[in-house]
Amino acid sequence: MAECGLPKDVRLKDGRIATVSFLSGKDSARELQRFINAFVTERTFLGYDKRFSLKEEEAFKKTQLSLRRKREGHLIIARVGGALAGSTGARREKFKGRHNVSLGIAIAKPFRGIGLGEALLRANIRETERSLKPKNVFLSVLAPNERARKLYRKLGFRKFAVFPEWMLHQGKFVNHIFMRLES
Ligand SMILES: CC(C)(COP(=O)(O)OP(=O)(O)OC[C@H]1O[C@@H](n2cnc3c(N)ncnc32)[C@H](O)[C@@H]1OP(=O)(O)O)[C@@H](O)C(=O)NCCC(=O)NCCS
Repeated sequence: MAECGLPKDVRLKDGRIATVSFLSGKDSARELQRFINAFVTERTFLGYDKRFSLKEEEAFKKTQLSLRRKREGHLIIARVGGALAGSTGARREKFKGRHNVSLGIAIAKPFRGIGLGEALLRANIRETERSLKPKNVFLSVLAPNERARKLYRKLGFRKFAVFPEWMLHQGKFVNHIFMRLES
């Protein structure tokens, strides 16, 4: 049965089925580590440029499970044929910013361009609105990441702030764009 609010299965554009769930204690930190470190190696548009150790990934997993218990966020993952194919997270800001929730998303390279990012982000928005009741839902993106910006616009996010030449990406300072969900 689908977990409350999440679509259990999503049919991708190439016919494969992605299974969507919240991160659970049973998901292995080693697998999460391999998943995230592949983006670091690829030098893609995520904000990380250093590989994570297993210990760091175990701490990350613990934090994510605890965020959900405390209704401060969640991590949704998708598996295709058993392999971890994508993840999307939500996290409440602290104290006076607690009504604002930031989202993030990462799809492993072999699973891009077949509708998984869109399906996961839609699921995350629905779950964020249902369980965290935010005033603002926002995310940030490196300016040259046109694929992600197009997806975010499609789902109703609009630019509200630009931090100029803020992030060092592949040896160049690039703008960091903040987008808020408007519809
Ligand atoms: C950006 C990312 C999340 C998009 O997810 P995805 O699964 O590849 O995208 P989808 O197949 O669901 O496509 C959704 C929309 O994204 C855009 N998109 C997807 N592939 C694209 C491409 N090659 N060029 C331009 N836009 C593209 C389109 O708007 C598309 O909608 P459409 O098919 O109606 O045109 C994913 O590619 C990714 O994780 N990339 C690497 C890490 C990253 O950049 N994360 C985001 C950090 S802010």
